[in-house]
Amino acid sequence: MIKLIKQIIDDLLGPLVADFWQVPLWIRWMLVVVTCAATIPLAVIFQARNSFNDKPRIHIIQNMDNQPKSVSQDVSEWFLDGRIMRPKVQGTIARGDMIDDTHFFMGIQNDEWASSFPSKLTIDKQMLERGQDRFNIYCTPCHGADGYGEGLVHLRAMILVETGANGTSWVAPKNLHEELIKQQPVGQLFNTITNGVRTMAGYAAQIPTEDRWAIVAYIKALQFSRDADSSMIEGAENFPLKDSQGVIQ
Ligand code: HEC
Repeated sequence: MIKLIKQIIDDLLGPLVADFWQVPLWIRWMLVVVTCAATIPLAVIFQARNSFNDKPRIHIIQNMDNQPKSVSQDVSEWFLDGRIMRPKVQGTIARGDMIDDTHFFMGIQNDEWASSFPSKLTIDKQMLERGQDRFNIYCTPCHGADGYGEGLVHLRAMILVETGANGTSWVAPKNLHEELIKQQPVGQLFNTITNGVRTMAGYAAQIPTEDRWAIVAYIKALQFSRDADSSMIEGAENFPLKDSQGVIQ
C-alpha cells in the first residue's frame, strides 16, 4: 500500500522535480528570496498586534486631520479673556426668532391676553378651513371632533384607568364648550396651544404660528356653532326641523 502511494507521488512529482532542475539557477534563487520576503509583512502584523506603544499610530494620509485649530472650550492667547468661545454680540437674535410682535407670537397685548386676532391675519373661510384641518389633526384625538372632550385617546385612557392597567392615571381633556373656556380671550386660547396648559403639552414645535391662530379661529367657530340659532343662518328656513324628540319633520 505504502509502496503504491510512493509510486503515485513519484509519478506525479517526478517530472516536476526534473523540470525544476532545468530552471536557471538565478530564477531558483529568486524564488527562495521572494518566499522568504513574503513572510516579512506577516511578521510585522504579528509584531504590531502583540506590542504596545504610547505614541500615535502612523498616519500616512493626513486629510487635514492634524492642523492648528481651536475647538470649543479651548484656551486661546488671541483674546484678552483667554477664551476661544466668544460671547454673543449684545442684542443678537437668531434668524426666525424675532418675536417683537407679542400679539402675533404670544397672544399678549398690553400685558393682557389679546381679545382680538392679530391685524396681519385675515379671518376668512379659507383660514377657518385651515383651522378645522389642523384641529382635526392635532386636537381631535383628545378633545374630539366636536370639542366636547370625548376623543379616542380619552376613551381609550378611560378604559385603561377602569381596568387599572399599569396604574394608569388620566386627566380628562377639557370640554371646549365649557362656559369658562368660551369666555377665554383668543390670546389665552392661542397661548394654550402654543405652550400647553397644566397636563396638556404645547404645540409650538409642531404647529406654525399662523396655523395656531387658525385653530383658535376654528375653536371660536365651533363654540359659536353650539349656541347659534337658526335666525343666524342664511336660508335656515329651508332646512328640515326636528321636534322636541329629535325626530326630523
Ligand atoms: C393628548 C391629549 C390632548 C391633545 C392632543 C390636545 N389637548 Fe387640549 N387638553 C388636554 C387636557 C388633558 C387638558 C386639560 C389639562 C388639565 O386640566 O390639566 C386640555 C385642555 C385644553 C384647553 C383648556 C385650557 C384651560 O385653560 O383650561 C384648551 C383650550 C385646549 N386643551 C385646546 C387644545 C387644542 C386647540 C388642541 C390642538 C392643538 C389640544 N388642546 C390638543 C389634552 C389634549
